[in-house]
Parts: sequence; structure tokens; C-alpha cells
Amino acid sequence: MTVSTLLQRRHKVLGDQSPLFYDEPLHLVRGEGVWLYDINGKRYLDVYNNVPSVGHCHPHVVAALSNQAAKLNIHTRYLDEGIVAYAERLTATFADPLDAVMFTCTGSEANELALRIARFASGGHGVIVSDYNYHGNSTSLAEVTTALPAPEPFGRHARAVPIPNLYHAKQGVSADQLAEEYAAKVAGAIASLKADGIKPAALLIDTLFANEGLPRLPAGFVDKAVALIREAGGLFIADEVQAGFARTGEHLWGHQAHKVVPDIVTLGKPMGNGHPLAGLVSSRELIESFGRNAMYFNTFGGSPVAAAVGMAVLDVIENEQLLANAHQVGAHVHTRLQKLAEKHAIIGDVRGKGLFFAMELVRDRASKEPAGAEARIIVNTMRENGVLISKIGPADNILKLRPPLVFSIANADLFVDTLDHVLSRL
Ligand SMILES: Cc1ncc(COP(=O)(O)O)c(C=O)c1O
Repeated sequence: MTVSTLLQRRHKVLGDQSPLFYDEPLHLVRGEGVWLYDINGKRYLDVYNNVPSVGHCHPHVVAALSNQAAKLNIHTRYLDEGIVAYAERLTATFADPLDAVMFTCTGSEANELALRIARFASGGHGVIVSDYNYHGNSTSLAEVTTALPAPEPFGRHARAVPIPNLYHAKQGVSADQLAEEYAAKVAGAIASLKADGIKPAALLIDTLFANEGLPRLPAGFVDKAVALIREAGGLFIADEVQAGFARTGEHLWGHQAHKVVPDIVTLGKPMGNGHPLAGLVSSRELIESFGRNAMYFNTFGGSPVAAAVGMAVLDVIENEQLLANAHQVGAHVHTRLQKLAEKHAIIGDVRGKGLFFAMELVRDRASKEPAGAEARIIVNTMRENGVLISKIGPADNILKLRPPLVFSIANADLFVDTLDHVLSRL
């Protein structure tokens, strides 16, 4: 079957707006570790996918999934030791008072639930987010989304505050000043909510600001904003759907870099290595008080199979020392990308940590005019050269580089050499 025939069939049943990557969509049929294979047997190095975080089709995860599926899989209102053991192990990785968990199937559900809990606990409704955010596809989240188009208007109860970015800061403005400016804007957002008679419920941010394009952040700006939202009676929801599970190579969780303990942490994508497993971690006190007032039930969230898969993912992270691998291989990639920036003027900025990089492409380093069209060509040409990457940002000019955590130095060299080759022929 040709790509165009399958595409036509897809359009007929999924609609022609159902999103796909690349100018010519990729028909993948198999994955293994950091490799993906298309219908013609062509092999691609995966430098994009964070969901199969411990590697595509990891045998330990596949075995855990199939063994449990062959034994029992049922909805979540029966006693099951697997989910309790998984919850114990997962919550043990968080600081006090984050000692309890609620399971869902998607990051959207986790953030939606976090908003419900924050609104219940604070008695407020207002939400402060970043000015280029995506936290999920429910109605409440669509009302606060700024990064993707949505028919729901931006909520009267929402305020979008730009995340500080040292790369785009005016000359002479220090990191401390940027952090102060952010805090002042959050204070302004709280005041503006109150002026409209809306009590703040939450500050909801991604701890890496992945969809924002991994901005170059000033130190210590999140804790100031967290103090302000708490003073106003709201909660801090840390979205770790992209940042969590060792991605940053520094800590298991992104919020640890900000030296602040959130009220609620939301989890997703890499949690089940592709199996739909997500959830939130908070204090037992908060979860129980919400539960006494709301009967929250999720048919599939935290099923026996989900628990077995989640446990196997944690095994692999630990056994294969993927946090350390993300740190070491990430540092190697970072150094090589910075060298590449000395050679190719289009690279305005290289940033990121662990195995998550953003490369901002510009037409002119002084004006920083975004090179969006060029980014598109690069992403598609990389794919033709057997390497999968993507792009993000308001001007679509930031390469998004985020391989599975089992990425090796040899994989890293192949990726950077291919990027060098593609940039040289641009
Ligand atoms: C930061 C962040 N939060 C939440 C979500 C929503 O997760 P899901 O697609 O599993 O609903 C996404 C998805 O891209 C995300 O990037």
C-alpha cells in the first residue's frame, strides 16, 4: 500500500485535519530501542519521541505488559496489589508532603483533575499559565491554552504570563531582573483576577517549559511566583508530563531544579512507555479531602496492566541508569551542538538539559529574525537522511530534539553529523 493510498483512507475516516508529521507522512511499522522502521524497511534514528522513553518496545516493559494482560486486566474498583506497589514506589521518589497518587490515562486528564482539586481546595477559579502553553485537550484546559488554536475563547478567569527567556532579553537586563519582572507580572495577574472578582486557584506551568521552546531560564524565578500564588490562596500545579521520569538528566522530576515542592505534580507521556498511563501526585490530605467531596473514578487509569507497565518503566530507568545516561549523553550532545553553532550562522541558540534540546534558528543573529521556513526544510531533510526530529515555538523555528533516554554516544554522533550535513546543504 502506498503512503498516498493510506493517507486518503485516513482522511476519509479520521478527517483531513487529524495531525501528522512531515510534508510526506511517515508510515512506521516497527520500533526497537532508538530505532524506527518504515513500511519500506528504512531505518530512522529517533531524536524526537519522549513517550517510548526507555526505548521503543523495551523487552522488559513488553514482557510486563503481556504477562499481566494474559493474567488479569480489569477496571480499577477491585483490590490489586500491583497498583498499590507501583503507587508506593512512585510516591517514594517525591519529597514530602507529596505522598499519594491518582491515576488517569492521559496527561490532559491529569491536568484537568489537578485543576478540579486546586479549585476545590482554594475555593477559587482563576488560573495563571504561560503565554505559550499546552496542558491538554479538555474544555477547562482549552480555555487556558495559548499555544494551539481552540474554538473555546481564552477564559475570563485565565491569565497568561510570558516565561522569562535570557536569549530574548533586552541587552543589559540581568537574570535577576528577568526573574523579578516575571514575579511582578504574576503579581499583576493575581491582582487583575481579583479586580475582576475572581479568586486565584492555581499557577499551572510545565517545569521545563517544553512547548514554550525550552527558554533559557533565569535561576530562581519559579519559587517567587509559587510564593505569590500561595499567598493568594492558590496552588502550584507542576506539569511534568514532558519533564518527568529522568528526562532532564539532573533529577527524576523537573520541579526539583526549581527548588520548590509543588502542591500537585501531573505526570504522563513517558510514564507507560507508550501504554496510556498518567496521573497526579499530591499530598494524601489534599487527595482525601477532594475525594470526600467528589467521587472520582477512572475506568482504565491504574488498571493492573497499567500498574505492571509503570513498574517496569521504573525498573528500566533504575537498572539501566537512564538518569545518568541522560546526563552524560546529553552533555556530549550539548557540546557538539554548540560546536555546530560556531559553524552554522542559522543556529541562534542551543539550550536544554539532559536529553532534551532546543535549537533556535534565526536568519540574523543580531535581529534574531525567526527562520521558520528553514526549520521546516531541515526537519523534512533530516527525515530523508534517516533522523527524526521536530520543531516548536510561536514562530515554528525551534528544533525540538528529545530522543528516548537510551540514546548512546554513537547515536548522538550520528544525529549531530547528519544535522551538520543537512545544515551545510541548506
Ligand atoms: C506539557 C504537557 N502537558 C500535558 C499534555 C497532554 O497530555 P496528553 O496528550 O497525554 O493528554 C501535553 C501533551 O502534549 C503536554 O505537552
